[in-house]
Amino acid sequence: MNMNKNNIILIGFMGSGKTTVGIRLSYRMRRPMLDTDKLIEKDEGRTISEIFDKEGEQYFRDLETDCLRKLTDTANDRIISVGGGLPIREENHALLKELGTVVYLRAKADTIYDRLKNDKTRPLLQGSDPMGKIRALMEERSAVYERAADIIVDVDGRDFESIMDEIVNRTA
Ligand code: S3P
Repeated sequence: MNMNKNNIILIGFMGSGKTTVGIRLSYRMRRPMLDTDKLIEKDEGRTISEIFDKEGEQYFRDLETDCLRKLTDTANDRIISVGGGLPIREENHALLKELGTVVYLRAKADTIYDRLKNDKTRPLLQGSDPMGKIRALMEERSAVYERAADIIVDVDGRDFESIMDEIVNRTA
């Protein structure tokens, strides 16, 4: 018997549009939305930046895996957006697959830079060379996102309606 759930999970780099696409999809498909960053912030009672700052990245990564485990026990028929680094842990791949259809919102480094150049909420992109960090992280992560995904959607230069149409059609 197939025990996999019927969620749509959005993965991709910071700034690829997971949260915005997720909220809009949630309205369009009439399915509640969950976001791992928000769930972690709520559980911890502090922001992602505070968690990175006080506890370090590995602690945050453990929280992500715990959060994903809980979702595999509880979530169904939802739109779930996950933090950009969550698919990097190999053990999270099986959990993502168990949760449902994994959709990778693929964006180019220039697109991400344009969207996040003034952002202060992503600890991994602070410092003097955000574009260098985006490129380095993308190099590490692109193949992993592709491997974790069931469906890849290119988002550069597209409006949200067209991105959503593609997701709805390809997950139908
Ligand atoms: C991270 C992405 C962030 C957040 C944290 C780390 C990453 O989520 O989980 O800052 O490692 O790419 P978004 O992808 O929603 O920005």
